[in-house]
Amino acid sequence: MEYSELIAARYSVRAYRPDSVEDEKLQAVLEAARLAPTAHNLQPIQLVVMHTAGREEEIGKIYHRPWFVQAPLVIAVCAISSQAWVRKSDRFNARLVDAAIVADHLILAATNLGLGTCWIAAFNVEAARSVLQLPDEAEPVIFTPLGYPADEPGPKIRKPLTDLVRYEHW
Ligand SMILES: Cc1cc2nc3c(=O)[nH]c(=O)nc-3n(C[C@H](O)[C@H](O)[C@H](O)COP(=O)(O)O)c2cc1C
Repeated sequence: MEYSELIAARYSVRAYRPDSVEDEKLQAVLEAARLAPTAHNLQPIQLVVMHTAGREEEIGKIYHRPWFVQAPLVIAVCAISSQAWVRKSDRFNARLVDAAIVADHLILAATNLGLGTCWIAAFNVEAARSVLQLPDEAEPVIFTPLGYPADEPGPKIRKPLTDLVRYEHW
């Protein structure tokens, strides 16, 4: 898909077909995540791929929407704070920015392959830590289901550019 088509085509998919995701497509999506830029190229990220079949109840504890476990796969993007770049001047830690870029690469690659995703930040952190068996150093940042969409995109509601962009100064 051409890039402008791709970014227009991506939407938050909240209903999934049960069809499995071909392994080549999963690997292509993960490869797109791997190619994402990170601060100082430190790549302080771990991806956890979960198959939902037979684990719906357990994985459903992470995010209580039936469509979350309708998809055959759920992917977690986790960050490791101690591995991330830290800005000297104010100790800003780039892990969440890095994780978001990785997630965006993954999500856009999925869209390009006809797969659906949905950014999920409103998950239960305690359940996520327990289900993923995360070590203390790993922080779950974003989840997404990955599967074939069973819904249709709605209208893209966005602020106009005039509300978002300033030129030369604030
Ligand atoms: C950081 C982030 C967190 C989000 N968390 C959730 C979520 O927990 N649950 C959900 O249903 N959608 C979530 N969304 C999806 C947004 O609601 C959605 O992207 C936005 O409404 C625009 O719609 P679109 O993705 O269909 O273009 C999240 C999106 C982002 C970028």
